[in-house]
Amino acid sequence: MTDYLEIKSIVKSFDGKINAVDGVDLSIAKGEFITLLGPSGSGKTTTLLMVAGFEHPTSGTIELTGRDLTKIPPYKRNVGMVFQNYALFPHMTVEKNVSFPLRMRKFNRSEIETRVRRILDLVALTDHAAKYPRQLSGGQQQRVALARGLVFDPDVLLLDEPLGALDKNLREQMQVEIKRIHREIGITMVYVTHDQTEAMTMSDRIAVFNKGKIEQIDVPLKVYREPTTRFVGEFVGDSNLFDGLVKGGAVDVTGIGAIRPPRADPKLEGRAVDVLVRPEWLRIVAPNDRVADGELTFEIVVDDTINYGDSILLFGKAQQRSVRVRAITSHAGIFARGAKVRVAIDPANVFLIAR
Ligand SMILES: Nc1ncnc2c1ncn2[C@@H]1O[C@H](COP(=O)(O)OP(=O)(O)OP(=O)(O)O)[C@@H](O)[C@H]1O
Ligand SMILES: [Mg+2]
Repeated sequence: MTDYLEIKSIVKSFDGKINAVDGVDLSIAKGEFITLLGPSGSGKTTTLLMVAGFEHPTSGTIELTGRDLTKIPPYKRNVGMVFQNYALFPHMTVEKNVSFPLRMRKFNRSEIETRVRRILDLVALTDHAAKYPRQLSGGQQQRVALARGLVFDPDVLLLDEPLGALDKNLREQMQVEIKRIHREIGITMVYVTHDQTEAMTMSDRIAVFNKGKIEQIDVPLKVYREPTTRFVGEFVGDSNLFDGLVKGGAVDVTGIGAIRPPRADPKLEGRAVDVLVRPEWLRIVAPNDRVADGELTFEIVVDDTINYGDSILLFGKAQQRSVRVRAITSHAGIFARGAKVRVAIDPANVFLIAR
């Protein structure tokens, strides 16, 4: 991967005491779709604003193809930005909203016409060019904002929770739309969300933020299956996190039993760990089911179940410890409150997190 956008040790303090962004390093490849994911206040927006040039880092540098951006004013950075609340100019038509960045940059009239036509076509808004924002749906307004962020052919497009204001269906449609645009024009995108499903489905890589720091940067499946910290394991996806102790390559899961994960890190030998088992990594064992060698089975007492139609989420307890199991089953009826259910963990489906 050639590094295109290099964020090096950036720190931002607004008050000189607390670091809102606390030493973030991020190398982004050209054409990559990278998502900054994290809880409220973890420094995602502040990081984007520093890349865009609307905030100045307290220390650290931001380079685009080797050029230091931090000394360049925002309008000269060739970075596009799309925000959550569209922030369209209400008194301008779609066409004028979209052409605004080109007029600011003094493009000539015919170039403006060509580019606006092309970009409106890309976001499927050609027929709405003469309308005002208030005459458009939320999804259409968001597409105008996208078009405006893309029209001047930026090197990087920054998107800060661009779909936050949309309802679920529209949000999913727009996710597909943004990915299509990303594919078609191959632009580098830095996307901010606190919706982990959105991050999982859209990104080449995810950077998980916590308290101004990046806890992990990886491809989505790796973040999900092999979180490097307990925080990441809990924040991304649904999880069971048990206490464990590694002995002789096996992990003794407190209150549940011992299991031998095939790829346990030797460095964890003798140490206390968090044992991650995603709810769908647990298997419900029916009375006549076989249990494979090496699988750990234990019994849980059901507290509650949620039936999603395509799957159920079962909440129970094993030796006072909460356990959740997600299963695809049509026999939800048997999991009444108080029922005893045997579950099994395949050793390949256990991930140990160092403490
Ligand atoms: N202009 C500002 N002045 C002072 N403090 C600020 C300013 N902007 C952000 N902060 C603080 O910096 C921290 C990080 O804020 P930031 O907006 O980057 O979080 P975020 O990860 O984008 O959160 P959210 O998901 O809620 O948008 C927060 O504690 C916030 O209160
Ligand atoms: Mg934010």
